[in-house]
Amino acid sequence: MKHYRLCFLGFGNVGRALARLFVSKSVELRDNYGIEWEITGVATRRMGWRASDEAIDVTQLLAGNDQTNSEADIDSWLARAKPDVVFETTSLNPETGQPAIEYMRQSLQAGAHVITANKAPIVYAYDELNQIALAQGKRFMFEATVLDSAPVFSLFRETLPAAKVRGFSAVFNSTTNVILETMEAGRSFAEGVKTAQDLGVAETDPSNDIEGWDSIMKVCAIARVILRTPLLPKEVRREGIRGLDSATLQAARAEGTPFKLLSRATVNTDGSVTASVRPEQISANDPLAGVRGTSLAIHFELDMIPGLTIVSHRPNLQSTAYGLLADFINADKRGLGTD
Ligand SMILES: NC(=O)c1ccc[n+]([C@@H]2O[C@H](COP(=O)([O-])OP(=O)(O)OC[C@H]3O[C@@H](n4cnc5c(N)ncnc54)[C@H](OP(=O)(O)O)[C@@H]3O)[C@@H](O)[C@H]2O)c1
Repeated sequence: MKHYRLCFLGFGNVGRALARLFVSKSVELRDNYGIEWEITGVATRRMGWRASDEAIDVTQLLAGNDQTNSEADIDSWLARAKPDVVFETTSLNPETGQPAIEYMRQSLQAGAHVITANKAPIVYAYDELNQIALAQGKRFMFEATVLDSAPVFSLFRETLPAAKVRGFSAVFNSTTNVILETMEAGRSFAEGVKTAQDLGVAETDPSNDIEGWDSIMKVCAIARVILRTPLLPKEVRREGIRGLDSATLQAARAEGTPFKLLSRATVNTDGSVTASVRPEQISANDPLAGVRGTSLAIHFELDMIPGLTIVSHRPNLQSTAYGLLADFINADKRGLGTD
């Protein structure tokens, strides 16, 4: 039986869903994987750096009744909580990836595996974080960043060796999908935002989704890890969905070529990558045509396989949390090493 001290850095929608998932999968983790766990640290802007020598009561934590003492900063938090694994789920900062990058750096240096749902550190600091993990004999994992729990990075790592990606197209963002479909039904942009928020897929401030930044970060993360080409967000052609009105969307749907916020990347002959995120009309025979509502999908073109589509049908917060849990179990199974 292996015993893990877990720390949660960020405890919003995803962090809390992950804590609930650990509770509901406890018996399975113990009986089938020989894993026991306790939470010894939780940190958010509002909660501060809470850490304990002993297990924090998860029920009290989820109920908002936790009284664990706060440490002054991340150094003392890591020193007190002594995590084997840090789950990093702080908010996306598409401009710099900070402060998450610094938090991950320190967590790895303190000897913890780092598992994240946050795209920006992959875009801005993949090499550095990987190298620290390697030097520390720890894992840096991030499957939940792109299609929640649907395998993308692990698919290429584990099952598609030496396959070259020539390009991909994707529907990466549930919020924009829901807004466009609401407007196709004759309702307003604001009603579309509200629908996405009611479904729990849009943040209070959904501008990163609407303006295309969330999708761009996913394009850049895949370019960096799977295409092995650094691509900065500013190098991706970007157009959000604000310019589309209901009449245009309804007409496009009636013609059978509805708009979606599409992400595209093409590997050029010189190895560089050209990418865009913008609303495009999609034909009925496109592999992404059936992606509706909150569903997400990516279609790869490879040298060995003409087309490979991964679809995540109606993922929810539990799906995202499962992406993090699966990384954790896989890190445990594979022992030391890095992606
Ligand atoms: N929601 C999804 O379906 C989904 C899916 C895939 C990936 N992701 C990614 O997962 C991450 C979390 O998403 P979420 O939906 O859980 O967001 P959220 O509900 O807004 O939670 C973010 C958490 O991070 C904390 N936080 C933000 N900045 C911090 C800082 N500088 N230091 C310490 N804590 C900080 C927040 O604390 P306070 O509340 O105290 O400010 C909050 O606990 C994001 O990077 C997001 O892009 C989300």
